[in-house]
Formats: sequence, structure tokens, C-alpha cells
Amino acid sequence: MKSLVVERPNQLEIQERPLPVPGPGQVRLRVRRAGICGSDVHISHGSNPFARYPRVIGHEILGTVDAIGDGVDFPPEARVVVDPVVGCGHCYPCSVGRPNVCTNLQVIGVHLDGGFSEYCCVPAENLHVVPEGIPDEHAVMIEPFAVAANMIDRTGAGPEDIALVYGAGPIGLTVVQVLKRVHRVGTLIVTDRIDERLAAACESGADVTLNTAREPLADKLAEMGVRPTLIIDAACHPAIAGEAIALASPAGRIGLMGFSAEPSLIVQQQITGKELSIFSSRLNARKFPKVITWMSQGLLAPEKLVTHRFGMRDFARAFDVFEHDQTACCKVLLSF
Ligand code: NAI
Ligand code: MN
Ligand code: ZN
Repeated sequence: MKSLVVERPNQLEIQERPLPVPGPGQVRLRVRRAGICGSDVHISHGSNPFARYPRVIGHEILGTVDAIGDGVDFPPEARVVVDPVVGCGHCYPCSVGRPNVCTNLQVIGVHLDGGFSEYCCVPAENLHVVPEGIPDEHAVMIEPFAVAANMIDRTGAGPEDIALVYGAGPIGLTVVQVLKRVHRVGTLIVTDRIDERLAAACESGADVTLNTAREPLADKLAEMGVRPTLIIDAACHPAIAGEAIALASPAGRIGLMGFSAEPSLIVQQQITGKELSIFSSRLNARKFPKVITWMSQGLLAPEKLVTHRFGMRDFARAFDVFEHDQTACCKVLLSF
């Protein structure tokens, strides 16, 4: 079979590998589609601290069941998506339903070989059957929407909120759709530095957009006469946390999604004085069923995020567009 492998940092290539045999508890998938994520790019460049090489990347995976290992009962040919989070099942976070921060966390496509491959073996318990009404190109977006679902489950959201989202990339836009189309937030403001991405945010449900390369956010909020009650940072520059804390309404909530190792400057008085709640969110804690239900109900519009499609052999062009053309590009899908 052919697999897309990061042999070592900055060397992404197609390799011929033996067809993997599913071990006990595992299922082998014939991969159909997979989405490219920022973390795939980081692993390919050696800038993800968790990755080991060589590594088959890809964690946004749709496939069909091809073979099953011992102890697995799964319908053959079932169309499935893969939750990439593999927890140990018995540490403290796993015991409280948060395997996404397992003390021994393994993520498919990061710590373990992933789905940019004609076939891959994954734990059967990480599979979710895709209902017939959800097309392939929607289903492959379940993982990024699960990331947004996890963040918004942490903060809560509702019609009483004036929400502000920093960043209109793939993650920001999934957050925008979950906030507006699922939770019906009252007002949704989105900032970015790229006009085309802000236009995409409007398509996904933003009420107000602001290009902060041209206009300061504080001025715009003052002009609107609002203070955000819910702020999600999906741009993840370390300076944003401090700004969000300063701009938030008293009793507001802030959700952080970034992985920067740089310190942020934050002011206790602004946090305690307004009794702010600050949450973080990593990957997802069993949010696939929830997202599948939302998709079945037609609440999400994943097609608005998919801008490019390539066959596996065109991976170099796919990665180039994803990395270098942020004005035209949001989600890039590969087929296998
Ligand atoms: P992206 O790079 O495509 O999007 C980020 C967007 O933020 C860009 O459009 C950029 O123009 C904009 N931006 C940059 N600085 C800004 C600022 N100061 N104000 C407003 N907008 C600004 O990245 P993507 O894939 O959407 O991911 C966003 C972030 O989320 C990344 O930092 C990534 O590491 C993180 N992430 C977190 C996950 C989690 O589970 N916590 C999962 C996946 C991604
Ligand atoms: Mn992803
Ligand atoms: Zn665990």
C-alpha cells in the first residue's frame, strides 16, 4: 500500500509499505478521504514536540472497514470516521471522561501512524459509524468540528452571549459555526487579518467582522457599544490572552486553544475584578457522537470550509496550497 510519510522533518514522501494487519481490538480501514490540518504541517516540519519519525501523518480520517482483529465485532464495509484521541483508560483525566488530556495521551497521526495512507489500523473503539445522510466530504470534517464542540462545551454559549472569535482559519470557522448555527449566540464578532477569511466567517455565521490589521478591536467594540461575554482565541498568538482579558465583559468567559510556549502577559486585577472564567481546550473528549447528531440534523455547513481537493499523489501541491495560500484556502481534503 502507499502511505504519505514524514520520513524525517522536512521530508514528506509517498512510501510503499506492507499492508498492516489489525491487532487485537483493532480494525483496518480502507481510507477514502482525509483532511489536512495545521498540525500535519507542523509534524512535517519537525515543529510538533510530540511527533516521532518516521510517521504516517493524518488524523481527520474517513474510511470503510476492511478487516478486523481479534475481539472486534464490527460490520464489514461500514463507513466510519476515526476519533484520533487514544487514552490509557485508567489515569485521572481518563477516569473523569477527559482522555484528550490522558497522562499517556497517544494521538493517531501524531504519536501513532495516521490516516494519510491507503490503509490504516486503528482501535475499534475509536471508530464512529457515519449515518447514510452525511456525505463523505461532510463526514471527514467531524474531527475539526469536534475540536470546536469541545471548546464550546467547556465555556457554554447561548443567545444571551456577545461572542468574539479571534482567527477565521479552519479552527476559527468551525467555532463560528458551532456558536452561531448550534448555540445561536446573540451577536458574533470575528477578527482576522485577512479579508478573504473574514468573508468566509460571514458565510459561516459571523454578524460582524473586523480586520485588525486595519482597525483596532477596542475601537470597534467601543463604537458598537458592546463588551464580549464570550471570547474564543482561535488565532492563538500569545498576546491575545491579555487583550481578551482586558476586553471581556464582567462575568465573561474566555476559551484558549493555542499551544504557544511563549508567555502571555495577563493582569490579575482584570481577571478577578471581573470574575472572568478562563478555559482551555485540547482536541476533543468524546465529542464525535454530538457532532454526528448536529450534522444529521443539518445544523452544520461543513461544505463552506472545504476549498480544495487533491488525490494522494498530488500531496505536494495540496500541502503547498494549505501552507502558503491562506487567502484562498481553508480546508484541504486528500482522497486515497
Ligand atoms: P490558521 O493559521 O489557519 O488560522 C489562524 C488565523 O488567525 C489566520 O487566519 C490568521 O490570519 C489569524 N490571526 C493571526 N493573528 C491574529 C490576531 N492577532 N487577531 C486575529 N486573527 C489573527 O490556523 P487554524 O488551523 O485555524 O488553527 C488555529 C489555531 O488553533 C492554531 O494555533 C492551532 O495550533 C490551534 N489548534 C488548537 C487545537 C486545540 O485542540 N486546542 C486544535 C487545532 C488547532
Ligand atoms: Mn485536525
Ligand atoms: Zn489516561
